[in-house]
Amino acid sequence: MSDKQLVGKVALVTGASSGIGRACALSLAKQGASVVCCDLRAEANPQGFEPDLHITTPDVISGLGGKAIFVAVDMGDLKQVEKAFKEAIDKFGRLDILINCAGYWASPFRDFVDETDELWQKTFDVNTLGVAKACRLAISLYKTNEVDETWGSRGRIVNISSCAGHVAIKGEVAYSASKAALNHITRAGAIDHAKDHININCVAPGITATGISRVNFEDENIINTWKKINPWPRLGKAQDIADAVMFFCLPCSQWITGQLLPVDGGFTLGIAS
Ligand SMILES: NC(=O)c1ccc[n+]([C@@H]2O[C@H](COP(=O)([O-])OP(=O)(O)OC[C@H]3O[C@@H](n4cnc5c(N)ncnc54)[C@H](O)[C@@H]3O)[C@@H](O)[C@H]2O)c1
Repeated sequence: MSDKQLVGKVALVTGASSGIGRACALSLAKQGASVVCCDLRAEANPQGFEPDLHITTPDVISGLGGKAIFVAVDMGDLKQVEKAFKEAIDKFGRLDILINCAGYWASPFRDFVDETDELWQKTFDVNTLGVAKACRLAISLYKTNEVDETWGSRGRIVNISSCAGHVAIKGEVAYSASKAALNHITRAGAIDHAKDHININCVAPGITATGISRVNFEDENIINTWKKINPWPRLGKAQDIADAVMFFCLPCSQWITGQLLPVDGGFTLGIAS
């Protein structure tokens, strides 16, 4: 008997080409799920820390004997989001898991007064409106699934927000607000759809080494400050986040919904230094 726990399940992961989304896609495939890898482009963010950056996520999954496709989508464009879900169903015929990982963060840090309308629009289009749309599309598909009695659900959603959605971090008001909205989409959506056996949870990463944050990892002032304010002796890796996401996808978490799990080395606990 296979010890894989998601055999027969189909997962759609946004932001799957790089960093946390890629780690989630690979972890899901290792548990036997077929994976629809959605992103702007199939190639990984060249700023990323993965040793096999030159191989696309679906190719890594195929190399491991799993099933995966790539679907190009800009999560800030709701028509493209609809199209991506349609392609997933055309290919695999069902959907069981959605990981909303694609995110927009505009470097560098800046004061609130210097943020522009364009920055707010783009940040909310990708981080909030695109995610809400993907959740609604997934939920309507999940409602056509039978409850899987072993798994305990009709479908799962895991949103990736940020420690910045929980505590205020200097210089990123629009981003923080978009992630705080995502935290509450998780809670409010979970209340509506618990009756449908649909779990909606959220993982809030702390400072994690990926392409999106490379610019900060290379700035000595920023990285020294971050190390000081992070209680755990090391900063995060994409797999730390993916492992928590996997918890919310497996049978063991079937009675958990609407929860926000910080995975941040204690960053949001209080004042560390
Ligand atoms: N790295 C961190 O320190 C950190 C901390 C907190 C939260 N996060 C969140 O984690 C998530 C994943 O980021 P990451 O750290 O893995 O960065 P990353 O750059 O490695 O990966 C992000 C991926 O999302 C894709 N993407 C960006 N905009 C998109 C769009 N409009 N449509 C489709 N795909 C898009 C990118 O192409 C990229 O492949 C993001 O939501 C981010 O806000 C990251």
